[in-house]
Amino acid sequence: MALKEAATVDALQVFYTDLERKHLAPLWTATADLLPREPKTKVLPFLWRWSDLWSLAQRSGELIPIERGGERRVLALINPGLTGRYRTSHTLWAAVQYLQPGERAPAHRHTPAAIRWIIQGEGSYTAVDGEKCVMGRGDLVLTPAWSWHDHGNDTQEPMIWMDGLDLPLVNDLDGTFFEPYPDFSQPLTKPENDSERRYGLGQLKPTWEKQLGPASPLLNYKWNQTSEALGRLAGSGASPFDDVAMEFINPHTGGPVLPTMACWIQLIRPGIRTRAHRQTNSAVYQVFEGSGATIINGKRFDWKKGDMFVVPPWSWHEHANPTDAEAILFSIQDTPVMAALGLYREQAYEENGGHQEVVSTFQG
Ligand SMILES: [Fe+2]
Ligand SMILES: [Fe+2]
Repeated sequence: MALKEAATVDALQVFYTDLERKHLAPLWTATADLLPREPKTKVLPFLWRWSDLWSLAQRSGELIPIERGGERRVLALINPGLTGRYRTSHTLWAAVQYLQPGERAPAHRHTPAAIRWIIQGEGSYTAVDGEKCVMGRGDLVLTPAWSWHDHGNDTQEPMIWMDGLDLPLVNDLDGTFFEPYPDFSQPLTKPENDSERRYGLGQLKPTWEKQLGPASPLLNYKWNQTSEALGRLAGSGASPFDDVAMEFINPHTGGPVLPTMACWIQLIRPGIRTRAHRQTNSAVYQVFEGSGATIINGKRFDWKKGDMFVVPPWSWHEHANPTDAEAILFSIQDTPVMAALGLYREQAYEENGGHQEVVSTFQG
C-alpha cells in the first residue's frame, strides 16, 4: 500500500491500531478477499462411499437409541473444507438416517426445511402435519419449514434414507427455530397419503385448493411416477450437460419443491459423457442406480450405487456413464436461493470439445 507524501509508516501503524480499537476496518487492505473476480469457495468436492455409509449407519443402530433431545439417528456428511461446521456444502446439509424395525423418531418442527430420499426399505412412514406418508425406495418426501414431522418403521426391515436440509443456510441467517411436539408422536388427522391423492398425478389438481405457502403441497413424490417420467423423457430429449435431467416441481407453481432447495432426478444413459459446465449453486448427489463418474474441476470421482458426492459452487463438472446399464442420480440443489437473489449464473466449458482434462482421481 502506497502512502501519501507527508505520511509515515509509524503514523499508519498507529492509525490501523486506532481503527481496530474502534471496531473499524479499512477496505483497501481487504478488497481482493471481499471482491474476488469470481466466487472462491471453501467447499471441496468430495464423495462418501455407500459401503461406509451403510456399515456405519448399522453400527449407529447397535449403539444409539432414538430419544428426545437427540431426536434422530442421523449421520451427517461433513465437507472436509468446512470441518466442524456440520455442512455438506456451504448451504446444504446431507445425511443418512437409519430407522430399525419397530423404531419411532419423535415429532418436532423446525424452520429449516427438509427432504427425504428413500434409499432402502418399503413401508415405513413420515407423518407431516397430521398426514401419514408411506415411503418406499425412490420416493421423495418433503417436510417443509415449520411442519410437524415424525418417522416410524413398522416393517421387518431397517430403513435408510438421505436427508437433505437447508439447515446451514438457515443457521447462517440466524433463522432457526425448533419445537418438540408435546407428545412423542403427532395425531394423524388426515387420510393416509392425503397430498398424494390430491396432487400425485402431477397434471391435475383440486380446483378448490389455493396455494398457501412457498413449499409444494405434494409431500410424497412416488418412485413409479418419477421413473415413468424419466423413461418418457429419455425417448424425447436430453441436456448436453446433465443428460436426461428432470426437476421435481411444486404442482401449484411449476417451481422448486421448496423455496430453498430444488430436487433433481437424472438418468445418465449408457455410453453418455456429458459436456462440462459450472453453476453458482452447489449440489449434493446420491447415486440411486448404476455406476459411472463425475469429473469435478479436473478430478475424477468414480461412483457406484449408493454413493453420495458434493459439487461445490462454480465448479466445472461433467458426468460419464461408460457402462451398458442406466445410471440414475438424485440431487438436492440450492439453486432457488441463488435464483431468488439474482445470483444464479451458469457457464459452459468451451475448451477441449467441452470436456475437462482429468488430472487426478479421487481415492477417498
Ligand atoms: Fe426434523
Ligand atoms: Fe450441472
